[in-house]
Amino acid sequence: MKNDISKILVSEEDIAKKVKALGEQISRDYEGKNLLMVSILKGSIVFMADLMRAITIPAKIDFMAVSSYGSGVKTSGVVKIVKDLDIDLHGYDVLIVEDILDSGMTLKYITELLKARGTKSIKIATLLDKPARRKVDIKADYFCFDIPDEFVVGYGLDYDEKYRNFPAVGVLKREVYTK
Ligand code: IMP
Ligand code: MG
Repeated sequence: MKNDISKILVSEEDIAKKVKALGEQISRDYEGKNLLMVSILKGSIVFMADLMRAITIPAKIDFMAVSSYGSGVKTSGVVKIVKDLDIDLHGYDVLIVEDILDSGMTLKYITELLKARGTKSIKIATLLDKPARRKVDIKADYFCFDIPDEFVVGYGLDYDEKYRNFPAVGVLKREVYTK
């Protein structure tokens, strides 16, 4: 697994520090609110597991799975709901938890969809942000790391369902996805 990664972009230590600080900030911002963390499967599970434990106020969690068609390195923009939420969103302050904001098309779609379900508020927390790749007008309310336009894996992020269990964020060698 390690041999397919050309360099580590964000180390385990740096992730741990940032996620802890973000958890503290979210705890302050959502004090007295009705926080529901919505994790977008599968890429965000590692971030979700760490972030929710760094939050010190009451929080509920739910999961949603979407697929953006295709297993490659690019998003098509067409989003399909594979698993919907269990909780009725009325009255919740929803915080969407994502692995990476790339073109922004997936999160744009999900945000609009959930907003229409009667949320009290809706915000986005993402581990990684690749601003250079944005195709639609969307910003993360909370993010941990701004990264350059490179395809990354690890800490939940995959290429063809692999490398999600790699503990840091690394750049995948180009030859792995071009062969
Ligand atoms: P967007 O709709 O283009 O913003 O794509 C978001 C989704 O594409 C993420 O949730 C990831 O699943 C996937 N993705 C985008 N960039 C990367 C990357 O560098 N590595 C792994 N997955 C990525
Ligand atoms: Mg993915």
